[in-house]
Amino acid sequence: MTAIHHFQTVKNIIHGPGSLEQLGDKLYLLDTPLKQVVLVTQNAMHRLGVTDKIKAQFARRGIAVHMIDNVEIEPTLENIERVFREDVAPFAPDALIAVGGGSVLDAAKLFAVMLTNDTPLKELLGIDKVSNPGKPMVLVPTTSGTGSEVTPNAIVTLPDEELKIGVVSRHLLPTLVILDPLLTLSLPKAITAATGMDAFTHSLESFISTKANPLSDTFALESMRLIAGSIVEAYQQPDSVRARGDMLLGSMYGGLALTGAGTAAVHALAYPLGGKFHVTHGVANAMLLPHVMAFNLDSCAARLKRAACVCGVALESDSDEVAAGKLIEQIHTWTAILNIPQNLREFNVAEEHLAEMAVAASKVTRLMANNPKVLSLDDIQQLYRRLLP
Ligand SMILES: NC(=O)c1ccc[n+]([C@@H]2O[C@H](COP(=O)([O-])OP(=O)(O)OC[C@H]3O[C@@H](n4cnc5c(N)ncnc54)[C@H](O)[C@@H]3O)[C@@H](O)[C@H]2O)c1
Ligand SMILES: [Fe+2]
Repeated sequence: MTAIHHFQTVKNIIHGPGSLEQLGDKLYLLDTPLKQVVLVTQNAMHRLGVTDKIKAQFARRGIAVHMIDNVEIEPTLENIERVFREDVAPFAPDALIAVGGGSVLDAAKLFAVMLTNDTPLKELLGIDKVSNPGKPMVLVPTTSGTGSEVTPNAIVTLPDEELKIGVVSRHLLPTLVILDPLLTLSLPKAITAATGMDAFTHSLESFISTKANPLSDTFALESMRLIAGSIVEAYQQPDSVRARGDMLLGSMYGGLALTGAGTAAVHALAYPLGGKFHVTHGVANAMLLPHVMAFNLDSCAARLKRAACVCGVALESDSDEVAAGKLIEQIHTWTAILNIPQNLREFNVAEEHLAEMAVAASKVTRLMANNPKVLSLDDIQQLYRRLLP
């Protein structure tokens, strides 16, 4: 090993069924006196009684809670700015608690640094533009997908530019992460499927990334093993705490993998689908994943074989190409079992949109640079075209 790698992550991770009940007792880990906090969450958590339980934990400790549940799904920059201005800033919280999917976690991460940086959000977009550490955060994911709870990224949609774009900063890492699989039992099937495939995509893309390294590989491989062994069960038996627990851990490991190595062309090609055609993040990635991996195959067959073996779909005795082919076949099988759409026409994408989408995807250079094979505009169009049968 000759290269030097730097891996930075969160300070505290608590994992296990029922672990949300420990939130109140673990608040000392934030190392700051708490008089008032903002709880960022979503409607589904009210229905499940989760927000009441959290509020009770704070009330017992004399901490005021201001609850926010108006962050959009896959929020726009404008939505984040408005919620911040109207609901977060006036309350001046000492800390933020986020309980929800990637949309909610990303919003809370942005609010935390917007409270301590007097800079318009637009100027924080990009890599390392955040000057000051944010307010302390506790992040509690309720989807097994983005891994946002452990990544230094937060993604916003820019509708005018029909694109999604990230803020990337070490200041977006929370102080405490709570992984409670019981919170994910209520995930609807379609969201279990799409977010689970997003998590798998994080790990596979990190594993074949040009920035892959021994640290990211460890998390990527374990993530793929866990997800391959649980995604179908989580979908077919939503109450399986074993499958839900493995998915949540696998998704968190996926976040660690992508923190170390980055995602690549699948995520870059997914952004215009989300920004312009409102294909949800997980669905866009799941649709693109097998096609982009087939394109990449000749540049990373040995790595795809290792991924196939860890997922239990290929044998050590298989050639690299055969094993890689089996992995791609398995991804197609998963997307069929999980009922993930396969045709972009369902989202009103037509041939005439492809050239513009290819230009938009090619501009996501932060991610394209991680892909093991360079994609021309024509290659990108061909890949989108596979989804217009
Ligand atoms: N920060 C990162 O590192 C990172 C990585 C990948 C994706 N993202 C971003 O995260 C967002 C997507 O997040 P997501 O895929 O987790 O979905 P999401 O947060 O958009 O949630 C999807 C839906 O699931 C519902 N939901 C969530 N948890 C539930 C539960 N336990 N029970 C019932 N319903 C529940 C939500 O209310 C919502 O309707 C996108 O904006 C994407 O770009 C961020
Ligand atoms: Fe993703």
